[in-house]
Amino acid sequence: MRSILRNVLPLGGLLSLVGAIDLQISSADSVKSVTSSLAYDMMTYYSGNESGQVPGILPGPCSDVSCYYWWEAGAMWGALINYWQYTGDESYQPTVIEALKFQIGPDKNYNPPNQSKNMGVDDQDFWGFAAMEAAEAGVPDVGGDFPSWLALAQAVWNFQVPLWETATCGGGFRWQVYSFNAGYNLKNTVSNGGFFQLSARLARYTGNQTYADWADKVYDWMEGSLLFQEQDSHLYIWDNTDANNNCSDVEHYVWSYNYGINLLGAAMMYDFTGGADKWKTRIDNIVDGANFLFFPQEYGGNIMSEMLCEPTSNCNNDQSSFKAYLSRWMAVTTLLAPYTKDLIMPKLQASAQAAATQCIGGNNGRECGRQWYSTTWDGSKGVGQQMSALAVIGATQITQDMIPLTAETGGKSESDPNAGNDAPHNPEDEFKRNPITTGDKAGAAILTILIIGAVVGLSVWIVL
Ligand SMILES: *[C@@H]1O[C@H](CO)[C@@H](O)[C@H](O)[C@H]1NC(C)=O
Ligand SMILES: *[C@@H]1O[C@H](CO)[C@@H](O)[C@H](O)[C@H]1NC(C)=O
Ligand SMILES: *[C@@H]1O[C@H](CO)[C@@H](O)[C@H](O)[C@H]1NC(C)=O
Ligand SMILES: *[C@@H]1O[C@H](CO)[C@@H](O)[C@H](O)[C@H]1NC(C)=O
Repeated sequence: MRSILRNVLPLGGLLSLVGAIDLQISSADSVKSVTSSLAYDMMTYYSGNESGQVPGILPGPCSDVSCYYWWEAGAMWGALINYWQYTGDESYQPTVIEALKFQIGPDKNYNPPNQSKNMGVDDQDFWGFAAMEAAEAGVPDVGGDFPSWLALAQAVWNFQVPLWETATCGGGFRWQVYSFNAGYNLKNTVSNGGFFQLSARLARYTGNQTYADWADKVYDWMEGSLLFQEQDSHLYIWDNTDANNNCSDVEHYVWSYNYGINLLGAAMMYDFTGGADKWKTRIDNIVDGANFLFFPQEYGGNIMSEMLCEPTSNCNNDQSSFKAYLSRWMAVTTLLAPYTKDLIMPKLQASAQAAATQCIGGNNGRECGRQWYSTTWDGSKGVGQQMSALAVIGATQITQDMIPLTAETGGKSESDPNAGNDAPHNPEDEFKRNPITTGDKAGAAILTILIIGAVVGLSVWIVL
């Protein structure tokens, strides 16, 4: 019944949501009602606003598989800001703002002591993005002694600039901030793409060319490294390369968020430069690569799939959220580079429609799984699954008036180019303040081993 309902609806037009939500989406109002349920169910995982709990974070620490790392919470706050924009539903705004306030840390740069000992560049970026999202969406600055949203994003950027490392690989950011963490040897796409995206957004918001120069530099480095490769006329953006051998080989796995993170940065630069050919080409290549890899022909060519882990049902909690970022960033790309709209929107529409048919599981009969291409619930559930469905269904409501604000177009968040500049960057200084325990180191190592373990078996597939 469910599959029949889905199949009779025209692709790219009406959305259907079936199952316990039992709603046929044919209007903005019904999308609002459905995304409201998705957001509500996502927030049932969050207890940071209850008494005695820590605002801003999801259940952890990550000694078992049912926890969520700090970065994913930052990503979730960004997704909820977009949800508010897409639907006008303000119910979560106070919770979002409380979370973004609570986690800034003593240097007001999203490097709080509870997280800093195993913080990667990418982890911090997702909190920087959420602050940037607030500025670009016109969420008023908190005021008083509290830094502006823009200043928080600038502080993250200022923290990261000195981490650019030219001693190996001709440049690039290492994944980890601190050398005692496993994974410090890797220069990975999400950390470099994360800084690139943040630079591009700051350039566009503030008009400051320094940020744009960094965006250029980081993208050029990625493009010149083995991380970006053309194969069969498609752009493959691989996950990471190893500084220990001067980045002379690359891990062959592809994740949707690595395309999303670079796509939005390229779209920001396209808009910032008034439509430069160089950025158009980059957007086109990323969109083509993402379409080829994450909208597989075997599922009709329009349904997004995290194909390295989804069909085999072994995505971890991080990976289960990746489609949320590709969805949101594809959607914003259609505003910044409107010529992409005809290519991107049908894919988001079809994916939204498909995602809805996967939100039929769990105790309440409406929890979302991961396999949007299947009309049978895949048995998985979690923050990432809810966030991805929320993001892709919400993204169908994006309109040109939601284009990210800049200082020139009504954005009022105050600039502070020196934000966070007094913060220690040297781990020795940092950890005089917050001594490291063996437990911290072990925790960080486990994180990496889990991640690498999850993907190693799958990398074979993509090589073939
Ligand atoms: C916490 O937030 C959730 C979702 O926003 C809300 O339903 C709940 O009432 C809040 N709890 C408290 C104690 O504020
Ligand atoms: C850090 O952890 C302690 C202990 O759980 C908690 O009381 C505090 O609120 C946390 N701080 C942040 C910013 O998460
Ligand atoms: C390391 O790689 C960079 C960039 O490819 C190159 O310029 C440099 O010469 C290499 N260094 C060594 C020691 O091979
Ligand atoms: C532009 O940004 C750079 C880097 O943060 C900063 O040093 C410079 O002061 C900024 N320029 C202006 C005019 O704000």
